[in-house]
Amino acid sequence: MRHYRIASIPADGIGPEVIAAGLEVLEALAARDGGFVLDVDHYDWSSAYYRKHGVFMPDDGLAILKQADAIYFGAVGAQDVPDHISLWGLRLPICQGFDQYANIRPTRVLPGVVSPLRDVGPGDLDWLIVRENSEGEYSGHGGRAHRGLPEEVATEVAIFTRVGVERIMRYAFASARKRPRQHLTVVTKSNAQKFGLVLWDEIALEVAADFPDVTWDKELVDAMTMRMVRKPQSVDTVVATNLHADILSDLAAALAGSLGVAPTGNVDPSRRYPSMFEPIHGSAFDITGKGIANPVASFWTASLMLEHLGEARAAAALMVAVEQVCAAGILTPDVGGNATTKEVTRAMVEAIKGGNLG
Ligand code: IPM
Ligand code: MG
Repeated sequence: MRHYRIASIPADGIGPEVIAAGLEVLEALAARDGGFVLDVDHYDWSSAYYRKHGVFMPDDGLAILKQADAIYFGAVGAQDVPDHISLWGLRLPICQGFDQYANIRPTRVLPGVVSPLRDVGPGDLDWLIVRENSEGEYSGHGGRAHRGLPEEVATEVAIFTRVGVERIMRYAFASARKRPRQHLTVVTKSNAQKFGLVLWDEIALEVAADFPDVTWDKELVDAMTMRMVRKPQSVDTVVATNLHADILSDLAAALAGSLGVAPTGNVDPSRRYPSMFEPIHGSAFDITGKGIANPVASFWTASLMLEHLGEARAAAALMVAVEQVCAAGILTPDVGGNATTKEVTRAMVEAIKGGNLG
């Protein structure tokens, strides 16, 4: 029997609702598979924890998490805590502390879900966005001087290193190679950002030489938004900086029907540290506690986690169940249905227990 230790951090907003749903589905899947067991440790690190303790996680938080094989994360952010405090209090220290430099964001139009793009259905939009996750515009370098004075100044420094760019480029080319279309689009803004992003272009050219089986092209980020909308079929795998890919992935999620289905993995490809898997949607205060949060993003996220752990068969079965449940119209309101989180979860558990998942 293969055992995996999962650290669960549901945190804020709808995080606890969708992570509970995801854990229920994972348990059903492990029971069906029979080959592995998930030992889940629960952590209450969150904005509530911050209000009580003045920090988002204990001093030895990273040392505790390091024991896990993977981290299953909900969402962080509360209305009474400034966003940059919560972000730099919990999620970024984990991503950066564990060098999870590759952020992967698959996007597909699921059956039963309607894209806002006319004539775009399942199969027309099947993307993998690879987001640089350790440096760039999220380096946390900069400062403020002359606070409050008319002369006040602030700098926000984006850092691009050869090591950082080369490793994400290799990861992206290798990811593209595993996909049916074997195509990579390298996104930059190297016309305007003439240092760091010209370095991206140069490194892309160098790395491409090692992947002759992958076709690739380049796109400026502004033009990329148009291409995603107008020619979604021309896009397959995408690699972009931390901030550019952050923006493109929201667009991708919207074009696929809802942010409520979008998953992500913060991956340390070297496997020195545990990787962290989370739905992209965030806290979603407007629907917190209403029982209608879409759990599909956290299911898909769980599938990414299983795949990372080496349980490819269970990961694939989970996605088949997701597609069956969506195709059957058991959908939450964000994707046009009227099912609750619990109803979608129950349908998933039934599909996993009884269904033919290929
Ligand atoms: C994401 C989110 C985060 C980010 C926010 C919550 C800081 O938008 O995962 O895409 O920008 O990284
Ligand atoms: Mg984002």
